[in-house]
Amino acid sequence: MGWSQLTWSWRALLLVVFFWGLISLSSAARLGASRQKFEVKKRLKRLNKPAVKTIQSPDGDIIDCVHISKQPAFDHPFLKDHKIQKRPNFHPEGLFDGNKVSETKEKSMPITQLWHVTGKCPEDTIPIRRTKEDDVLRASSIKRYGRKKHRTVPKPRSAQPDLINQSGHQHAIAYVEGDKYYGAKATINVWVPKIQQPNEFSLSQLWILGGSFGEDLNSIEAGWQVSPDLYGDNNTRLFTYWTSDAYQATGCYNLLCSGFIQVNSEIAMGASISPVSAYRNSQYDISILIWKDPKEGHWWMQFGNDYVLGYWPSFLFSYLADSASMIEWGGEVVNSEPEGQHTSTQMGSGHFPEEGFGKASYFRNIQVVDSSNNLKAPKSIGTFTEQSNCYDVQTGSNGDWGHYFYYGGPGKNPNCQ
Ligand SMILES: *[C@@H]1O[C@H](CO)[C@@H](O)[C@H](O)[C@H]1NC(C)=O
Ligand SMILES: *[C@@H]1O[C@H](CO)[C@@H](O)[C@H](O)[C@H]1NC(C)=O
Repeated sequence: MGWSQLTWSWRALLLVVFFWGLISLSSAARLGASRQKFEVKKRLKRLNKPAVKTIQSPDGDIIDCVHISKQPAFDHPFLKDHKIQKRPNFHPEGLFDGNKVSETKEKSMPITQLWHVTGKCPEDTIPIRRTKEDDVLRASSIKRYGRKKHRTVPKPRSAQPDLINQSGHQHAIAYVEGDKYYGAKATINVWVPKIQQPNEFSLSQLWILGGSFGEDLNSIEAGWQVSPDLYGDNNTRLFTYWTSDAYQATGCYNLLCSGFIQVNSEIAMGASISPVSAYRNSQYDISILIWKDPKEGHWWMQFGNDYVLGYWPSFLFSYLADSASMIEWGGEVVNSEPEGQHTSTQMGSGHFPEEGFGKASYFRNIQVVDSSNNLKAPKSIGTFTEQSNCYDVQTGSNGDWGHYFYYGGPGKNPNCQ
C-alpha cells in the first residue's frame, strides 16, 4: 500500500537526484574545460602583442616583431609613463679587451640565432618568441607558465655559497662574494646537453644576486638552457630570468612577464642559438655582460660584443636597486628521479672538467664590475657542487682566458647512481 508507494516515489526521487547530479557534474566539467580555454586565451592575448611583421623560424618558432613601445614590459603599472632608454649611459671599461679574438685552438665563431636565416625585424621593433597554446598547457598551471617552480629557501650554510636549496636541483658553479658588485661578465661555451625527462632542464648561466637567501632574494640571471617543458623541444636557447622575492610572485623567464625592457631588434629572448659545439670538434661560445648603469641604476644586458639587449629597471628590485652581494657562474640541472636515483640529464657538454677544451664545457674571462664601473678579474673565486661524482667544476687562469673554469658532467654514471 502506502509503503510500496513511498518506496516508488523514493526510487523516483533518487533517480531524479542521480540524473541531476550526473548532468550538473558533466556541465561542471564542460564549464571547467571552457574556463581553462578562456584562461589560456586570455594569457596568450596578454603575452602575444600585435606584430608589425612575423617571421617563421626553421625550428618551428614564430618570431613576432612588436613595436618597441608595445612590448610586455609596459603592462607593468609602474612603467605606464616610462620613457624608454635607447642605450646605457655608461659601459663598463676594463683592462681585459673582450673584442680581442681568443687565441684558443679554435677561433671563436660568430653566433647568431636560428630565425635570422628567414628574416629580420624592422627598426623600432623588438623580436618576441610567440607563445603557443601548447607552451602554456605544458606548464604546471596557467598561472605558473614562464616562472620557475616555487623553491624552498633554507638558511644558507656559512661555508658554502648561499645556493637556494631545492631538492633535485644540482649545480656546478664558481662564485664570488663579500664585496659590492655592479655587474658580471663571462664567455660561455654552448652545447646541447641531453635531457632525460621533459620536466627536467639543463642550463649554463650567470647569477647576479642580492640580499640574504630568504624570501626576498633578488636575482638576475642569463645564459643558455635546454628546457623541453618551457619550449617544447631540446634546442639550446638564450634566456634570462629575474625575481625580487626568491622566485615566488615576481619575475619570469625572458619577456614572459612585464619587467625587462628590450631595445634590441636582432636578438630574441628564448630563441635557439646556432651553431652549437660538438665533441672534439668546432667550439662556439657566447658572451654575456650584465651591469648596473651608474646614472639611472638600471641593470643592462649585452649579448656578444654587438648587441645591447635592454635593461631591468632598478625599481623591480630591493637589494639590487643598490648592488649585488654575490655573483655565480655555472651549470644547473634538475634531477626529477625518485629518491636514491640519479638522472642522466647532462650538464654542459655532458663530460667532466678533466677532459678539457673541445670536450668539457667552459666559462672563460669571468669578470665582475666594480663600483667605478670597471670590469676586473674577481679576487678569490670559490667553487661549489652538490655531488662532484655527477657534475663537477675546476677553475684555472691564464693569459688568453683570464679566469676560467670547466664544469659539467653526465649525471648518472657508475659513481653517481
Ligand atoms: C639541501 O637540503 C637538504 C634537506 O634539507 C639537505 O639534506 C642537503 O644537504 C641540502 N644541500 C645543500 C647543498 O645545502
Ligand atoms: C628530447 O630528447 C629526448 C631524449 O633525450 C627525447 O626522448 C625527446 O623526444 C626529445 N623531445 C623533443 C620534443 O624532441
